[in-house]
Amino acid sequence: MSLLITDIAELSTCDPAHGEGPTGVLTDAALVVENGEVAWIGPAAQAPDADERLSAEGGAVLPGFVDSHAHLVFAGDRAGEFAARMAGQPYAAGGIRTTVAATRAASDEQLRANAARHVEEALRQGTTTIEIKGGYGLTVADEARSLRLAREFTAETTYLGAHVVPAGTDADAYVALAAGEMLDAAAPYAKWADVFCERGAFDGDQAREILTAAAKRGLGLRVHANQLTEGPGVRLAVELGAASADHCTFLSDADVDALASSSTVATLLPGVEFSTRQPYPDARRLIDAGVNVAIASDCNPGSCYTSSMPLMIALAVREMRMTVPEAILAATAGGAKALRRTDIGRLVPGARADLVVLDAPSALHLAYRPGVPLVRSVLRAGARVA
Ligand code: NIG
Ligand code: FE
Repeated sequence: MSLLITDIAELSTCDPAHGEGPTGVLTDAALVVENGEVAWIGPAAQAPDADERLSAEGGAVLPGFVDSHAHLVFAGDRAGEFAARMAGQPYAAGGIRTTVAATRAASDEQLRANAARHVEEALRQGTTTIEIKGGYGLTVADEARSLRLAREFTAETTYLGAHVVPAGTDADAYVALAAGEMLDAAAPYAKWADVFCERGAFDGDQAREILTAAAKRGLGLRVHANQLTEGPGVRLAVELGAASADHCTFLSDADVDALASSSTVATLLPGVEFSTRQPYPDARRLIDAGVNVAIASDCNPGSCYTSSMPLMIALAVREMRMTVPEAILAATAGGAKALRRTDIGRLVPGARADLVVLDAPSALHLAYRPGVPLVRSVLRAGARVA
């Protein structure tokens, strides 16, 4: 079964080899889907015939967003903590323990329904691939359960047993658990392992121990690094060949150099700075140094409770001074790179037909019209999902 998408005012392939400019734009374009993949892209006037047709009605089409960083297995919310922060309290990692208590107390059905609600919410805003972390269980059974549930929604699951040390627990004993029995219980459901490497969470040596143990079990690595302070996280991520170092808010020159000479993607999470009133990461410094940059939502009930990738694009442009094409690439091809995926994040022949049709003539409108629901429809593997 083939599908021809017509009346595309602007097609952002997100591959500069396939069109104009950094986002590889084709105008007055068409796209053919076959067997869930992009089979053909080109000028509408030359489009081949297909079994079915879908009109983009003069809207822009771009790849579905790849949200490479989200925490969606949790219960409850922390609206009170947010309100207190807006009244002057600082953000602190300790709030994580509030969500841990609520998550442990929730049933599988409650956690599943909550995750489903957020995945659906993200999908309606154009996110066709989402990474989901655990990290709100912090016991062997609860981290295994979190990852087992996450697996129901995505292949991109991440073990984050080392999110914080649970209240009343000895840190050394907890690190040994997170690098041993807890990791063993969660690993069958996890593709990745992550550690919150930060003052108040895990230091560089503790993070190295856990990440090294995870790599030995075949998991890919990612690191919550340099979010609240400068520290060893980014350089550790590069040293261990992690796919991404996430946050990257407080960076030394050595951190930037390390990222620039590596394949580790710097995943920027501007919704966190928006929601915590922290300074934004210096995206220009990273891009100008040649670092691979992604943007992601970090959707979680503490530091950033939004799943909106269009909002992340708007923030990246307006607050981090990324150009609009840079932000669109970071939310699509950049996210795919952060997940080491080559089948998503671009609309070129052979790629999975994950795409967004906008109620706007150009993808520029994602940054130009912040807060406006511009996503008209979403296709995953060529099938309409929103
Ligand atoms: O990525 N930094 C650590 N973890 C999350 C926040 C989790 C929370 O506050 O509940 C983050 O910002
Ligand atoms: Fe996070």
